[in-house]
Amino acid sequence: MATSVRIVGVGATPVGRLGRSAEELAEAALDRALADAGMARGDLQGLIAVPSLSNPTFMQAHQLATRMGLLPRKRMIVRTIDTGGAGPITSLGTARNMILSGWTDTVAVVASDAVLSMDREAFRARADESVRGSGLPSPAIPHGYDRIAQWHMRRHGVTREQLAMVPAIFSHFAARHPDAMCRRPFGVAEVLASPRVAPVTNVLECARRADGAAALVVASSSHFRRHFQKPLELCPAIVSTGEASGPLYPPAEIDEDLFSCERAARIAFETAQLSVRDIDFFALYDCFPICFLRALEAVGCCPVGGAGEFVERAWRKLSTHGALAPAEFPFNLHGGLACFGAPWEVPAMYGVLEAVAQLTGRAGPDRQIAPKPRRALVYGNGGIFSASAVAVLGDGVY
Ligand code: CAA
Repeated sequence: MATSVRIVGVGATPVGRLGRSAEELAEAALDRALADAGMARGDLQGLIAVPSLSNPTFMQAHQLATRMGLLPRKRMIVRTIDTGGAGPITSLGTARNMILSGWTDTVAVVASDAVLSMDREAFRARADESVRGSGLPSPAIPHGYDRIAQWHMRRHGVTREQLAMVPAIFSHFAARHPDAMCRRPFGVAEVLASPRVAPVTNVLECARRADGAAALVVASSSHFRRHFQKPLELCPAIVSTGEASGPLYPPAEIDEDLFSCERAARIAFETAQLSVRDIDFFALYDCFPICFLRALEAVGCCPVGGAGEFVERAWRKLSTHGALAPAEFPFNLHGGLACFGAPWEVPAMYGVLEAVAQLTGRAGPDRQIAPKPRRALVYGNGGIFSASAVAVLGDGVY
């Protein structure tokens, strides 16, 4: 078999208010991922970390590697990557490239933050600061997405109710995941009755502030088979990745050029010689409903302008039958950012973890897609549509 790059281990801490620092959480998640791979810290040759909002430090990955005793060591490459919420997927692509370039055989990727343990005013000030110069009212990030949601409503006829259906659907999925913060499904009326944050955005539609960390270990299949015991069938391949960039915050005139997910998805599909029809599970970034709707269109699940109706069909089915089977709506089965929990730049990692669980048939009876998916697509979005990174996982041309 030709060498492929595989996700050989995954690990996460609980998500919620944990009262532990981002560094402590990162260390715990990384040790869990190593244990899942059957590896020790000393087996790592590379480490990539994304920055935290709660405790921003210079060269965060170096801080973590030093703290964990991974440095100094001769054969060790350490890198911090900041593409906002796209960071975990950018890091996955970078890890794959490092291995394919022959720089390393194993690389860990870790993301962690503790933004729920932060004082709420401090969080708001730091989050607003991340889009300094945007002129958006506080809270700036929800307002930035809200402007784009309003644009979509005017241009494509997305309704206020269709936006609210996104977290309502995901609350039903989150309630089936033992680790998700949202424990009780809710409906559209409850979303629309929750406190207003921006003109067409309410609290239940916002990425949910959380503490948490997640990590994964990536390895070349030939190296892993030679040195470790875990069967490769339990280690999905990173088939391809794609990346593209947009502006840091919405420009005065919003138009289709703002979005970068289309291009990132196209690169990932073309490299893999696959199309959307080859994907069985999607983890699409949904920090606010408009991000999810736009992603559905960008990856080709529906035509541009058709995502509102796509979601409404699913919501009607759920309302009629009281539930959706995982295969009927194979998206964000962990619950997504508003319902699973969103520790700033960590959430795309939860998308990867759910994809790995689905691809290896280990998502449990309530969430597992049957038959087991062959391929998954994971999309991470940074800033306000400022960075897009897409990965295709599972079977494919490597
Ligand atoms: N579901 C359920 N409850 C929620 C919720 C959600 N999705 N979001 C917030 N809440 C609840 C909180 O738990 C809290 O409840 P309690 O009072 O019972 O503790 C209450 O709403 C108030 O929330 P906050 O404590 O956060 O305080 P707030 O009122 O000052 O702020 C908010 C509310 C403006 C919605 C704030 O939570 C917020 O800004 N959320 C969005 C966070 C965000 O922007 N994340 C980044 C998204 S963009 C991205 O992911 C890309 C990237 O590059 C990072």
